[in-house]
Amino acid sequence: MDSLVLCLFVTLLAAVGHASAAEDVPWSQNYVILYGQEHTQLLNQGKEIQISMDQSSGSGFRSLKTYGSGFFGMRMKLPNKDTTGIITSFYLRSHTTKHDELDFEFLGSKTQQYLLQTNVFTNGQGFREQRISLWFDPTTDFHNYQILWNQHQVVWFVDDTPIRVFKNNNKIGVGYPAQSMQIEATIWNGSWAGEPNWSQAPFQAYYRGFGIDGCLAQNHTIGFSECSSPTYSWNGVKYWRLDRKQQSAYEDVRNKYLVYDYCLARFKPPPECPSNQ
Ligand SMILES: *[C@@H]1O[C@H](CO)[C@@H](O)[C@H](O)[C@H]1NC(C)=O
Ligand SMILES: *[C@@H]1O[C@H](CO)[C@@H](O)[C@H](O)[C@H]1NC(C)=O
Ligand SMILES: *[C@@H]1O[C@H](CO)[C@@H](O)[C@H](O)[C@H]1NC(C)=O
Repeated sequence: MDSLVLCLFVTLLAAVGHASAAEDVPWSQNYVILYGQEHTQLLNQGKEIQISMDQSSGSGFRSLKTYGSGFFGMRMKLPNKDTTGIITSFYLRSHTTKHDELDFEFLGSKTQQYLLQTNVFTNGQGFREQRISLWFDPTTDFHNYQILWNQHQVVWFVDDTPIRVFKNNNKIGVGYPAQSMQIEATIWNGSWAGEPNWSQAPFQAYYRGFGIDGCLAQNHTIGFSECSSPTYSWNGVKYWRLDRKQQSAYEDVRNKYLVYDYCLARFKPPPECPSNQ
């Protein structure tokens, strides 16, 4: 094997090893029910969970612990019904009055063409929605959704492709998530998303991959002290910005799949916008 091939091979092994380690962690090791216990079900020896929604209730779960940085992931398979008005989510959030939050929200539709909405709240302020259409059917297989969060940037990935970047623009007065956050996943109905067709219920979403690559932080305000330590892989230089290949994949997603961007919806884009594209 020449060294490039060997290098690729080792990288591939490492990636596979990593994914399967997260896959092997039972849900109960890192998570508890948030609400709607009777609408949840552990499957596959506790390595998969189904959460569901019908007219009586939705459901959700959360991490036992809170984190101050990390590379968080979840593998998800979405309900394969007319999911109008149903929102399936995976996100990080702090539990403070002016909270921080980083979202993946899958907006249901009549067909299986979900829109994937991402959003950022800092100090209780949101209104930073972006929406993309997906290049695959998210209801037939599990796909990997990840949020990288370090002191330099937040990046949302879909199957390793960056679909959104939010840089730390504190220097120009833009808020940046700096409160310790929990990982949460829920299925719920939002009035703004349309009236669900309840005769299609229950709406069932499946989650896998319960290992957590995050820095534990019990304090509400983390100030990035310990959690910005370079001993955590996700704080390394490699994760400070997208590399060239990632940047080009990101631009490709924006060109082909972007449906809505708060940055483009305003006459005067907010100050953080240019550096996030
Ligand atoms: C969600 O569905 C319930 C019916 O189970 C309904 O009472 C409630 O108003 C809905 N919530 C929203 C925000 O539409
Ligand atoms: C709701 O779902 C039922 C059962 O699948 C279907 O017969 C009906 O046409 C749907 N209603 C709407 C408004 O789509
Ligand atoms: C929480 O923050 C305070 C003030 O910054 C600090 O003194 C304390 O050691 C922190 N506690 C933990 C558990 O990190």
